[in-house]
Amino acid sequence: MKKLVVLISGNGSNLQSILDACASGRINGSVAAVFSNKATAFGLTRARDAGVPAHALAASDFPDREAFDRQLMAAIDACAPDLVVLAGYMRILSSAFVAHYQDRLLNIHPSLLPKYPGLHTHRQALANGDAEHGTSVHFVTDELDGGPVILQARVPIFPGDDEEAITARVQHQEHAIYPLVIGWFVEGRLAMREGKAWLDNQPLPPQGYAND
Ligand code: GRF
Repeated sequence: MKKLVVLISGNGSNLQSILDACASGRINGSVAAVFSNKATAFGLTRARDAGVPAHALAASDFPDREAFDRQLMAAIDACAPDLVVLAGYMRILSSAFVAHYQDRLLNIHPSLLPKYPGLHTHRQALANGDAEHGTSVHFVTDELDGGPVILQARVPIFPGDDEEAITARVQHQEHAIYPLVIGWFVEGRLAMREGKAWLDNQPLPPQGYAND
């Protein structure tokens, strides 16, 4: 069975969907450990409730980003994971970290990439009067939110929607597509090669696997 390590910073609703998918067999793998850069992250409680070791590291204990990431890498590597999953991990990764987990590092970003990399994506979609928004699962590269997209889910934006309504609609989709993509990876169907995401030995187009 494949081993996952999940990195979080907050609520951990995506972590919960991954834990649930492992428990139900939808992901043929297990979460070996959860790490957070915030000791108060509710996701740590979710992990412990599921019997998964959960640890927090404080940035203030380290002189710089590289030192923080070195410690994090050592702790992750002690679990020997097949895949490292960023699930609401709100900290910029050092190049050394990205290089170390190259081809086995996934992220979920709440926009239809390449639209709206970075923060406040829901707010930007609303401010721009977009009719649709969504979320993207992608492999992580050195470019912030710029690695190859694997799968996106689209949601409509309705008149009168506020940020909270859109966030809830997007997260509902995230909880479906992230476990699905992780499942593909652990089954050996998904890989990153030549800077592209491949599913069943086919390179995926820039918007990832078609899904509406
Ligand atoms: C998700 O919306 C994800 O797209 C973004 O951060 C949020 C994390 O939510 N990267 P949660 O902690 O999984 O509830």
